[in-house]
Amino acid sequence: MATIGTDILSVKKLLSAGEVVGIPTETVYGLAGNAFNDDAVLKIFSVKNRPQFDPLIVHTDSIAHAATFVRSFPQKAKQLAEAFWPGPLTLLLPKSDAVSDLVTSGLSTVAVRIPNHPLTLELLACLDFPLAAPSANPFGYISPTSAQHVENQLGKKIPYILDGGESTVGIESTIVGFEGEDAVVYRLGGIAVEAIERIIGPVQTVSHSTSNPKAPGMLKSHYSPRKPLFINHLPEILQQYSPSKIGSLTFNHLVDSIPAENQRVLSPTADYPEAAKHLFAYMRQLDSLPIDVIYAELLPDKDLGRAINDRIRRAAVREV
Ligand code: TXA
Ligand code: MG
Repeated sequence: MATIGTDILSVKKLLSAGEVVGIPTETVYGLAGNAFNDDAVLKIFSVKNRPQFDPLIVHTDSIAHAATFVRSFPQKAKQLAEAFWPGPLTLLLPKSDAVSDLVTSGLSTVAVRIPNHPLTLELLACLDFPLAAPSANPFGYISPTSAQHVENQLGKKIPYILDGGESTVGIESTIVGFEGEDAVVYRLGGIAVEAIERIIGPVQTVSHSTSNPKAPGMLKSHYSPRKPLFINHLPEILQQYSPSKIGSLTFNHLVDSIPAENQRVLSPTADYPEAAKHLFAYMRQLDSLPIDVIYAELLPDKDLGRAINDRIRRAAVREV
């Protein structure tokens, strides 16, 4: 069992000694270690059981600090950083020698983010190194949005989880990289593409459903619950399973023919941020109910609905 608490000084000591700990962010909880200590970085990969070819995001607390470990900061990146940091935006920028190849899995870019969580910002302010942190879930499982989620899955492997309550955004950061002057969205996330386009104009979005994604962690199975999840096809599901063995995940309404206690409605008022906040916690709840299958519906493909649909599709075994 990990200690769950809010003692920043203990966490500072552990991180300075090369340990890895759970930290809260507004998106999802992270599994953090000193980004400048290769042993700590290796520990992150091994605790998470994550392949070393899947690079980590480096978290810091100011644009000035970020500038010390990147070689350049394109104009559009600066505009986005100023608009959305601290917040659920990760920028892929050319890495400087300060960042080891272990963190970036040998890539020439480093993923950088300033998270928007008061406890973690306080922690970062008292450290003299940035924090490498992937989501604090075992590789291939749903990301954690509470300290208890982290404890349930990684508690035996880490000494401390900094408890910052439930993540308020609930889905991972939007990842934006640059090809020359052009911005490219590599992962849909907590900042809607529309919001990014309001700052820098039209951007290209690269789908991760290919077998060779640019962000290697974005493989299709990345968010899988253990129970099979089907998108649509309710009549077929009802032919194969008794209603009491079916759970449902929908945007804003209940489904006829499935018991109410097996249903999770992401946002009864059809509010996208609220739906995002509930998504992973509800997937976990459905996974632990005495049901055999999950029926899910996609949201309208706009705003945060796009990022939510991306996560639901990754969790699915079969689609439309
Ligand atoms: O909201 C978030 O981004 C959370 C919190 C903890 O900050 N972190 C997170 O990290 O989701 P992770 O490791 O679960 O996902 C980061 C993704 C991975 O798919 C990785 O492949 C990609 O970012 N990535 C990291 N560095 C990259 C790089 N240099 N180029 C392309 N993709 C990169
Ligand atoms: Mg992850």
